[in-house]
Amino acid sequence: MTYVVLENCIKCKYMDCVEVCPVDCFYEGENMLVIHPDECIDCGVCEPECPAEAIKPDTEPGIEQWITLNADMAQSWPNITMKREAAPDAKQFDGRPGKFKEFFSPEPGKGD
Ligand code: SF4
Ligand code: F3S
Repeated sequence: MTYVVLENCIKCKYMDCVEVCPVDCFYEGENMLVIHPDECIDCGVCEPECPAEAIKPDTEPGIEQWITLNADMAQSWPNITMKREAAPDAKQFDGRPGKFKEFFSPEPGKGD
């Protein structure tokens, strides 16, 4: 099992999750983070920390696309272990539907 970052992280990218992960298994894209499934120890600490409620366990129904995307992107995006300031417009995107189609970027983020 692993925890998985879902669509609502896109363009919110609050990064509260990276501060609490005991094994530093978050990886950063241009506008979202993912969890490396082979590094996550399933502690569950990050799930309630995300203000966008964008983290769920992989047992959640209907999230197959996100399980695959987290595993794929964690291979090429840089590791992030320290929270930075979220974008000033992050709140505007919280809960907005269709963010994957409209905004998902496969480009890597800055990392640490
Ligand atoms: Fe890190 Fe635990 Fe969240 Fe996995 S469940 S990403 S180990 S905080
Ligand atoms: Fe994304 Fe939530 Fe972390 S919005 S960056 S999963 S705190």
